[in-house]
Amino acid sequence: MNAFGIDLGSSNIRIYNGIDDSFMMEKNMIAVEGKDTLFAYGDSAFEMYEKAPDNITVSYPVTNGVIADIKNMNTLILYFINDLCKGNIKGSDYYITVPGDVTEVERRAFYDLILDSNVKAKNVYIIEKAVADAVGMDIDVKTAQGVFMVDIGYQTTEISLLSLGGIVTSRLIKMGGQKFDDSIKAAVRKEYNLFIGDKTAEKLKIAMRDVQQSGQNAVVYGRDIITGLPVEKEIDTEIVFESIRENIETIIDGIKQILERTPPELGADIYHNGIFLTGGGSELVHLADMTADATGLVVNISEEPVATVIRGVNRIMKEKHFSSLARSVEDAG
Ligand SMILES: Nc1ncnc2c1ncn2[C@@H]1O[C@H](COP(=O)(O)OP(=O)(O)OP(=O)(O)O)[C@@H](O)[C@H]1O
Ligand SMILES: [Mg+2]
Repeated sequence: MNAFGIDLGSSNIRIYNGIDDSFMMEKNMIAVEGKDTLFAYGDSAFEMYEKAPDNITVSYPVTNGVIADIKNMNTLILYFINDLCKGNIKGSDYYITVPGDVTEVERRAFYDLILDSNVKAKNVYIIEKAVADAVGMDIDVKTAQGVFMVDIGYQTTEISLLSLGGIVTSRLIKMGGQKFDDSIKAAVRKEYNLFIGDKTAEKLKIAMRDVQQSGQNAVVYGRDIITGLPVEKEIDTEIVFESIRENIETIIDGIKQILERTPPELGADIYHNGIFLTGGGSELVHLADMTADATGLVVNISEEPVATVIRGVNRIMKEKHFSSLARSVEDAG
């Protein structure tokens, strides 16, 4: 099919390529040299992050789930699509996801992005991120009532209540994997006098599950704050986890607030079906268990959390039954 599906995250960009039926995921990052010379994009820009000299600026154009840097986001879209089209962009349809709890202007920016980026879009459709998540987790959202979706990403957690394919309530909170990494950095600094980079903090976070299961300590490289020298240190991940506990509680508080506002009839469905948890951040060790304990609900986890949205987009694009879940902006009003 001559169409592309796009999920723009604060950390990752995912594209479903309908022309050859494939998926791609890269860092949603750009490296610019000087004022405005493109130096690298995607995963190769990420490689340079925290390593590049001062004349190269490496940044994420999406901040807190919305497009903050339109110019660079336009450039990224054009380059990614051009790569997927092997340098020969033809007119295609585009399906782009948007967070539920954003302003009309922020929502419009996703649509305009595609129209303004020279990818020769024929039609542009918008899909609510939470709806795509639900379809990506194999929920038949068109008939299901009371679906409680939580997507924990890099900078945002989107908590949504869905019914019959639409959003009843949605809340976007500024909490996610990046905050977990920041907490880890602060804890390692405080407990071990060790300064570590963002990438090391993230690796430590991802390794935590395995490390705790094996009962061993993690080993990280950083700069000793006292001597100023690069060193390797063994880290007790239990101590590090304590620093993230508060972040998880913020998410749980957000979930509880939406649960409290859920109309009783929908609440009964949620009681039966539980919470659906996805997004890369949801893989954090203990997070799903803590959520289940705090809410008393079953927590269903996604098999492939970073790709749930784009899998849902793919199905909405392909399956006729779901076609009404994608709306052109005119219809969306
Ligand atoms: N196994 C894992 N354990 C813990 N965290 C993980 C794991 N895998 C990925 N993550 C985290 O998931 C986050 C990225 O998730 P995701 O791709 O869903 O975010 P995004 O869609 O780019 O951001 P957002 O939805 O906030 O705009 C990163 O912070 C990453 O460290
Ligand atoms: Mg996301």
